[in-house]
Amino acid sequence: MIQNNDFDVPKIVIVGHVDHGKSSFIGRLLYDIGEIQKEKFGELKKASKKRGEEFEFAFLLDALQDERDQGITIDTTRIFFKTKKRKYVFIDAPGHKEFIRNMITGAASADIAILIVDVKDGIKQQTKKHSYLLKLLGIEKVITLYNKMDKISYSESKFLNIKAELDEFLSNIGIESYTSLPISSKKGDNIVSLSKNMRWYHGQSFVEILDGYKIQENNKSEFIRFPVQDIYKLGDKRVIVGRIESGKIKSGTKLIFLPSNESVYVKTLEVWPKAKKEYEVGDCIGITLSDEIFVDKGNMGSDLERPPKLTNRFESRVFWLSKSKILFNKKYLMKINTGEYEVSINKIKKIIDVESLTEKTKINVQKNDICEVVIHSSELIPMDDYSFNKSTSRFCLLDEKEIVAGGIVDIRNYPDQREYKDNFKQNIVPENYAVSEIDRSIRFNHRPGIVWLTGLSGAGKSTIAKNVEKRLFHKNINIFSLDGDNLRIGLNKNLNFSPEDRTENIRRTAEVANLFTKAGFIVLVSLISPYRSERKKARDIRPEIFREIYIEASVEVCSKRDVKGLYAKAIKGEIKNFTGISSPYEPPEMPNLVINTSRCSVEESVRKLEEYILKEFSF
Ligand code: ADX
Repeated sequence: MIQNNDFDVPKIVIVGHVDHGKSSFIGRLLYDIGEIQKEKFGELKKASKKRGEEFEFAFLLDALQDERDQGITIDTTRIFFKTKKRKYVFIDAPGHKEFIRNMITGAASADIAILIVDVKDGIKQQTKKHSYLLKLLGIEKVITLYNKMDKISYSESKFLNIKAELDEFLSNIGIESYTSLPISSKKGDNIVSLSKNMRWYHGQSFVEILDGYKIQENNKSEFIRFPVQDIYKLGDKRVIVGRIESGKIKSGTKLIFLPSNESVYVKTLEVWPKAKKEYEVGDCIGITLSDEIFVDKGNMGSDLERPPKLTNRFESRVFWLSKSKILFNKKYLMKINTGEYEVSINKIKKIIDVESLTEKTKINVQKNDICEVVIHSSELIPMDDYSFNKSTSRFCLLDEKEIVAGGIVDIRNYPDQREYKDNFKQNIVPENYAVSEIDRSIRFNHRPGIVWLTGLSGAGKSTIAKNVEKRLFHKNINIFSLDGDNLRIGLNKNLNFSPEDRTENIRRTAEVANLFTKAGFIVLVSLISPYRSERKKARDIRPEIFREIYIEASVEVCSKRDVKGLYAKAIKGEIKNFTGISSPYEPPEMPNLVINTSRCSVEESVRKLEEYILKEFSF
């Protein structure tokens, strides 16, 4: 039922400065490999002559685009062609007005990327911007074409100079130049065969390079990613359709679907013609599942071993394409894989200067800027980090119908919000407590509670907690303080500061606090606990007695105090993932109480919290 014909055609994207000869190159290539009829070519040449212009291969493309209706496989965004070895398609029309816009959508699925530079004109800002954009879109290898060699008398030394300059830039942004090929589109040098004009060049011609290019090298992930494109009902069969972005699928493969978090087996493969037993990256397939689970368009099928993270918050590098400014209170539509989500941009972390690759000092993002932002969605989105899987971590943002940005996901600093299903609980039967919470409350003369202090390191959590603990103890309150640093010496000593470890740190601490409440205690927890989602999980254990207290102080204030000297180290890069510096902190949206320690003295802060606790937990 799904046909695999055109999906196998390698997609080529060609980028470069607007005048560096993309159209001429494509025109020349099509002509040299015999895709253009001789008569057509003659006609065009004659027409140019009549107009008194010199013929350019770029005209060929214009002419072909005008004749789309006459059966030539070309439209504004796709140009098919064939070499002796295989078919290819250019997925972007050179010279198109909204060039970058097309690239965002076009290059997102490109198999081969070509960067073209005019050797006479040199490397331009646009050359760099487009290279950077390729990198943003997950492409890490380019074929570099040094065009217009005829204009520099085919000079090897000039070619080597400009090549050295471009190679350095590319390697700085993490792109490998797969091959550097000197060409002239105008004269046809090194396009189909090697040119006599550059005997010093001992590599392959462009067509040879293309035919030898191994596709799919851009995505090395072996883990399954199967974004659901659609669901077809065929009789009683429910066929889940999509394109495999990474990994392999066969009948019997175990898959987990996100966000529903349910696992199933692949029952049958519904592909026509059924050519293989196992399908892989790039294959479009339909599958039926062993069980009826909830699967919808936009969901992600993956293996159980390493599924994507589920999150509603992530960082991203984006290329901002719109004339309008980034608005924080605005909803944008995010398209990622086959899913669409309403998101908002919460923060601009930095704006990067493409020319120097340094941080810009300006505050507002302008059209064509590259910047790092924090994005938030109300729904959980299955997501991979860009360093883990390039093809499933790219997205674009739309405002109404306009594409305003393209970007890649950086989720390293955020935890997985997926609920782990475990089977252990099946054989566990909880015992009732012999002494009830109420009996203990009556004896202690107050109710138990979890008072959760969250805030940056150095905000004052531990100081306030210690003082409150002392004062309430003297008022006969059964109170105990659980402090992040102390727990990390014992119970949590195997945990670090990665999002996963912090998540576990918060979970364990919340469970211990819960046990203390069973013993009738009011527990003061002092934990940075930077993630909203994880604090919510802590609250959900005992929502009726959980109170979230935001100990507020800005990063600037905390790093000025720097009691432990950790901020200075973090700023120098000596401590990794330091909250507020190189790792995020999400302030509570609706805390039960806020204590701003840059405005309140320790004395005032302590009194405020003490009063609050007495009010909340006394009989
Ligand atoms: S949490 O993020 O997992 O909640 P927790 O409150 O337990 O953090 O521990 C924070 C304390 O660990 C800080 O007060 C600080 O003394 C110390 N620390 C060491 N490395 C880091 C780091 N990378 N980020 C934050 N705190 C750190």
